[in-house]
Amino acid sequence: MPGLKVGSEEHKLLFCREFTRTFHPYEVRDVQWPHLDEANLERLRALPFWSEAVCSERTAGARVRAMADAERDPLLREAIAMQAYEESRHALLLESLMSHYGIAVPDGPGEKPRDAEWGFLRMGYGECFDSFFAFGLFHVAAESGIFPAPLVGIFDGVMQEEARHILFFANWVPYRRLELPSARQPWFHLRRGLGMSLQAIGRLRTALQLRDADAGDDFTMQVPESIGEVTLRKLGQICLGENERRLSGYDPRLLRPRFVPRLVSLALRLAPKGSDARTD
Ligand SMILES: [Fe+2]
Ligand SMILES: [Fe+2]
Repeated sequence: MPGLKVGSEEHKLLFCREFTRTFHPYEVRDVQWPHLDEANLERLRALPFWSEAVCSERTAGARVRAMADAERDPLLREAIAMQAYEESRHALLLESLMSHYGIAVPDGPGEKPRDAEWGFLRMGYGECFDSFFAFGLFHVAAESGIFPAPLVGIFDGVMQEEARHILFFANWVPYRRLELPSARQPWFHLRRGLGMSLQAIGRLRTALQLRDADAGDDFTMQVPESIGEVTLRKLGQICLGENERRLSGYDPRLLRPRFVPRLVSLALRLAPKGSDARTD
């Protein structure tokens, strides 16, 4: 990052201002849900993740809100509060879509963390994993028509907000560590490592469960059939490309999330070329 010192006041100004500058103002109540034909409606209702998605957006909203409330720096607080608003707006948008198209909306508020910083760290690393794969899967789902075309534009905005969230997080982590008194830095380092590892283990467990379920009938419940047209290698490449594209429009001096893209690039390099296992 030439000319910009990570952890400096200038760095903080840049990553907070880039975040607030790129805010997209809209109200969920103004969203006009398009008419879907029977085939699209059926496909939309069959997608397996609505309940989980709405619950995790509610939890994200509560966790980020708790961090904003605990933050004393006005600039950081403004940006983090804006992220909390966006997460809650994602939950509202999903609820609105679900009730409009006749999908049952689950109850329950987002779960508030007892320790704001720990909640924010865990969620941030979780978002770095999930968003990376969501960018690629969204691209595949939109191209193949699994995700109804009239809704792609609306949810593209949600994806781009997630890109802003992980960009902010990738800069907030080193800023936060360097801002702490040196005696507290190892503790933050440890929590950071633990937060990242727990998310990695969680994702690995899900992947293994999906692979186990692949042997039975449940797998089609989790992964729409048409994704089976795309090989795992191709999906990895698409995720890398989409991640790059979605993060490319922001100030080049800002740090980018690196861990997940590097891990996937490494996996692509190590996987034998002939082993283009299909996801089906
Ligand atoms: Fe979100
Ligand atoms: Fe997010």
